[in-house]
Amino acid sequence: MANDSLTITDNRTGKSYELPIRYGTYPKYGAAIDASQLRQIKASDDDFGLLAYDPGFTNTASCKSGITFVDGERGILRYRGYPIEQLAEKSSYLETAYLLLYGELPDAGQMEEWVRNITHHTIVHENIKKFIDGFHYDAHPMGLLVGTVGALSTFYPSAKEIHDDARREKQIWRLIAKMPTLAAFSYRHSRGMPYVYPDNDLSYTGNFLSMLRRTTELRYEPDPVLERALDVLFILHADHEQNCSTSAMRVVGSSHPDPYSAIAAATAALYGPLHGGANEAVLRMLNQIGSLQNVPAFVKSVKAGEAGRLMGFGHRVYKNYDPRAKVIKGLADQVFEVTGVNPLLEVAIELERIALEDDYFIERKLYPNVDFYSGIIYQALGFPVAMFPVLFAVPRTAGWLAQWMEMLSDSDTRIARPRQIFTGSDEREYVPLKKRR
Ligand SMILES: CC(C)(COP(=O)(O)OP(=O)(O)OC[C@H]1O[C@@H](n2cnc3c(N)ncnc32)[C@H](O)[C@@H]1OP(=O)(O)O)[C@@H](O)C(=O)NCCC(=O)NCCS
Repeated sequence: MANDSLTITDNRTGKSYELPIRYGTYPKYGAAIDASQLRQIKASDDDFGLLAYDPGFTNTASCKSGITFVDGERGILRYRGYPIEQLAEKSSYLETAYLLLYGELPDAGQMEEWVRNITHHTIVHENIKKFIDGFHYDAHPMGLLVGTVGALSTFYPSAKEIHDDARREKQIWRLIAKMPTLAAFSYRHSRGMPYVYPDNDLSYTGNFLSMLRRTTELRYEPDPVLERALDVLFILHADHEQNCSTSAMRVVGSSHPDPYSAIAAATAALYGPLHGGANEAVLRMLNQIGSLQNVPAFVKSVKAGEAGRLMGFGHRVYKNYDPRAKVIKGLADQVFEVTGVNPLLEVAIELERIALEDDYFIERKLYPNVDFYSGIIYQALGFPVAMFPVLFAVPRTAGWLAQWMEMLSDSDTRIARPRQIFTGSDEREYVPLKKRR
């Protein structure tokens, strides 16, 4: 009997089955059995075979991936092997995006070409402006982003040729380049302000700030501290392995639509308050708490189930301090030196202090996640709350695309089509309306 296998005995039949165990790069990076192997386990010949029941995929590996490694117990996050702390300190968002997509850090020539390709695709078709104009004045910018990025697919019909390497790569440049433009246009529309065209002499985040902020000045000069802070926030949000929106990207992508349609689906997944909308919920919660003296009573009501969850706390994977939250907390000081301190910061710090000492949160391993402090910084940077999930979607585009490319090149990939355990009625006869009671 092979050592690397699992023996299962079905107590209904007394039969034993030996299932091979498959590993990641090293056994410590994950081990799994092939779920389809369970189907041979049957109670009788007409039995469908055993399924794995896993709502929310809490213990299901939906793919193999070499992009992002998360160890939630130890609070580790690495992109392509590089610790997030090093990338946040030394890399730029565009360099990190290249790393995620191509697997290696670029050399100087590759970097120059990459930046040029992205920069040359920042402008969107003029008709996109008309499309955005059609939205109601108070439309949520995230709703606008979902709609406009999906609409982009109609401007590039060849984007559906996803197995053509050159065409696929061009859509990747376009998506990474145009997401900030769409995001900024959505924001300007919601403010009733004229759209600002991209300034290709600025950096990726500098140009984004310019498209968001520029009013009458000839040239917008981003504050270098704030430009770098946004770049670091973008690095931290660039990928996070098989989260809800990335799974949406892979699931939708598995039926082979163009990448704009798949990114629209991923963006929609990110819109929800349990995912990309959480930092918006954190700010609302901090505003609701209002001041330091209200913090203990608020924590008490969360524990009693009266005030909902402590937003920005807890994570499906991290059962330790989210490493991104640590970097963001450090970033806050630099930002506040330029913008002045956000008064909600002291409420957040007190909330964190009390929660981290409280048995309820300790027992459940609930720590601050990436969203706990990011909203406070975004607010200090002058972004309205509705823009927060948009500021997540823009950098996550690189991760979504990296995961999409990996999925397309994996020979194990099949159209996503989970199974169910049926709990409804057994077969029954149709009853005509007149005879129904
Ligand atoms: C992120 C999140 C959805 C993960 O959920 P999950 O892995 O499914 O965890 P569960 O919902 O099973 O929660 C486990 C326990 O912790 C509690 N819990 C989880 N997050 C909590 C929070 N933020 N505040 C209070 N209690 C929380 C649950 O009530 C549950 O308690 P119980 O065992 O007594 O029923 C969840 O922690 C959450 O809703 N957090 C707030 C939203 C947020 O910040 N999301 C951003 C994620 S980056």
